[in-house]
Amino acid sequence: MYVCLCQGITDGQIRSAIQGGCCTYRDVRIALGVGTQCGKCACVAKQIARETLGEE
Ligand code: FES
Repeated sequence: MYVCLCQGITDGQIRSAIQGGCCTYRDVRIALGVGTQCGKCACVAKQIARETLGEE
């Protein structure tokens, strides 16, 4: 599922970034560029990041 249409980022990419070493939503944002344009995806992206971090 696409989370960020501006940058074409999927939920899977967010999860992979966290598994690959990102420890916060901020890290994911820097690594993928998610939420850096219109910002509409920030809430959902943050939620996915939080869920994924909580699962680990
Ligand atoms: Fe992610 Fe616009 S949809 S910045």
